[in-house]
Amino acid sequence: MLSMLNWCIAEQPDREVWLFYGVRNSLELMAQAHLQSLSTNHPRVHLRLCFSNPDNADVLGQNYHHRGRVDVELLRKQLPLKPYHFYLCGPTPMMQSLVPALDDWGVPDAHIHFEAFGPASIPRKVRHASPEPQVNQSQASEMPLVTFAKSGKQVPWNASSTSLLDLAESLGIEVNSGCRAGGCGTCQTTLQAGEVSYRQTPDCDPDPGNCLLCVCAPKTNVTLDL
Ligand code: FES
Repeated sequence: MLSMLNWCIAEQPDREVWLFYGVRNSLELMAQAHLQSLSTNHPRVHLRLCFSNPDNADVLGQNYHHRGRVDVELLRKQLPLKPYHFYLCGPTPMMQSLVPALDDWGVPDAHIHFEAFGPASIPRKVRHASPEPQVNQSQASEMPLVTFAKSGKQVPWNASSTSLLDLAESLGIEVNSGCRAGGCGTCQTTLQAGEVSYRQTPDCDPDPGNCLLCVCAPKTNVTLDL
C-alpha cells in the first residue's frame, strides 16, 4: 500500500488519495514520519490513522484521528461523495466485513480492489445487470466442458460467467480467493487437463500446470483439481 501511495504522489500528484491506516496503537505504526511528511507536503493526500486499542501515550486528535477499526461507517463519514476506487489490504476478518459492506454501500465491483493477508474467501454480491442469457441445448453442446474433479461436477462453460472462479462459486464449490483480479495468487488451482485463456494478463505468475481461476476461462475442455 505504501508503494502504491508513493507511486501516486510521484506519478499522479494531482490525484486525491485518502489513506485509512488501521492498527492497534502508535506502537504498531509503520513509516509514521514518512506518512506524516507526505500528508503535510501534499495537500491532496489525506492521512487517517485509526487506533483500535490506543496506548496510554496516544491522544485522539493529536497523534491519531479515529478510535476504532477501519469500517464502512468511517469511510462514509469521511469521504465526500465521489466515485472513488478502494484499494484494501488487511487481515481476513477485516476484508470479510469491509468488502461486502462496500458492496452494500453501492460501490461498483470494478472500484473495489483488495488483497487479504493469507488465504481467504471474500463473499461478494452477485450482480446481474440483465437477466442471465439462457443457454440452449445446441449452444451448450458447443461450449467447452468444465470438470471439477474433486467435487464430481461437470458443466458446459457458461459465457455469462466472468471467470472459472465465478462458475465454481455458482455451483457452490468453495475456492479460496483474495484480489479476484489476478494479483495475489490465492485462487491458483491445478489444471489437470485442457487449456485456459486469460481475460487480462495476471500480475502473479501461476506455477506450471496451474491457473488463476479469477481471471481465466476455458479454451478447451478442462479438468480442475477442485
Ligand atoms: S484471487 Fe487473487 S489471483 Fe485470483
